Amino acid sequence: MIPVGNPAIGEDFIDRENEVIQILSTLEKDSVLLIAPRRFGKTSIMRKLKDELLKKDDICVFLEVEDVETPQRFISEIIMALVENGKSSIKTKIISSLKGVLKWLRDNIEEIETPLGRAKLRSEIESDLKEDWMEKSRQIFDTINGADSTIYIIIDEFPIAIKNMEPKEAEKFLHWFRKLRQVSGNLRFIVGGSVSIDNVVRGTGGVAVINDFRRVKIGGFQKEIALEAISKVFIDEGWHYEDYIGEKILGSIGEAYIPYFIAVMLSALKEENILNGGEINENLIDKVYNLRILGSEGKHYFEHYSHRLRLFYPEMEEKAARAILKKVCSVDNYPVDLAFGFFKEMTGIDDSEKFMDLIADLSNDFYIEYDQENGLKFYSKMLRDWWRIYHGSS
Ligand SMILES: Nc1ncnc2c1ncn2[C@@H]1O[C@H](COP(=O)(O)OP(=O)(O)OP(=O)(O)O)[C@@H](O)[C@H]1O
Ligand SMILES: [Mg+2]
Repeated sequence: MIPVGNPAIGEDFIDRENEVIQILSTLEKDSVLLIAPRRFGKTSIMRKLKDELLKKDDICVFLEVEDVETPQRFISEIIMALVENGKSSIKTKIISSLKGVLKWLRDNIEEIETPLGRAKLRSEIESDLKEDWMEKSRQIFDTINGADSTIYIIIDEFPIAIKNMEPKEAEKFLHWFRKLRQVSGNLRFIVGGSVSIDNVVRGTGGVAVINDFRRVKIGGFQKEIALEAISKVFIDEGWHYEDYIGEKILGSIGEAYIPYFIAVMLSALKEENILNGGEINENLIDKVYNLRILGSEGKHYFEHYSHRLRLFYPEMEEKAARAILKKVCSVDNYPVDLAFGFFKEMTGIDDSEKFMDLIADLSNDFYIEYDQENGLKFYSKMLRDWWRIYHGSS
């Protein structure tokens, strides 16, 4: 069974071949920003990339920075990840450069082979960076830049770390980080997060601080891949599978075939099957979709979409976004000028540029799609059905 929420790794990881190829080729020249909202499969792809890069004998570290709140901590996390990585050449270089700036390390070099010693080193680096972190970390990164191999640094939940920082510090950090990418020919970053980075940087330096990243959008699976994934689960579970069943499941989910949505549907089918038995046929799939996904027990599956509006959209925009989404979920296509009317009503702002910024945010965060001919529509059928029940007019 596909995991429902945790990253899909190893045997559980399905496909994403095109995305992985695209990212690896982009990395030859540039750093990469993965764009997708919660649960689309960013972490799974990042973990896959790490495996692929390590296979090629490159240096690659993976950091999860959701709890990071300061530049100092951010930098010490990178340094520690490099110190802890198995490749000895870069490790030795970093340690010798750190010895130049850290007295503790000079006196206790043998301790860093132990977990306790490494914990101590982490806090030493962090406290050493308290003053003048920009200059000190420049010295350390000069050494790292001197390494003769490319170093890949994968950073998950980057926008959250930026949001956690004091706004002034965040701005300083983003400029420093931009410069680091410019001057370091052998460093490549793969950065992702579950909230829109554009939203986060808007208040701290603007998009200019991240405009060197090449953006890779992560969407749903292609239909054949989605069908293959479903049939594999049926076979693994010992359920009878026929093509119409896969089609029926995808019909409920609708495009885009987001792996998490498929996993949610399959796990709900499994629960139903365990509790009530019964052959998995079209009726059962309808029942599971209507009762388990759209019924009260399904509320939690997508609640983070609603929560995210509260967390990351300014108050007025959140109100306007909710009003617009409420309308958009009730019809196949919604005229954009009517949505602009709601925007004006909710915010009191008669400015079409501000309105289009909000539409762009909602599109980048994969709530809706916009095109001039058809206006606005929900990005995903399943999310639209869910939204109509929990946040719609009825
Ligand atoms: N390549 C994949 N193969 C199989 N399942 C996947 C894949 N990618 C994503 N999933 C499904 O989506 C879920 C979430 O995946 P993942 O944690 O990688 O997403 P994420 O975008 O990092 O989520 P979050 O925003 O919560 O950090 C998984 O539990 C699994 O159900
Ligand atoms: Mg993730």
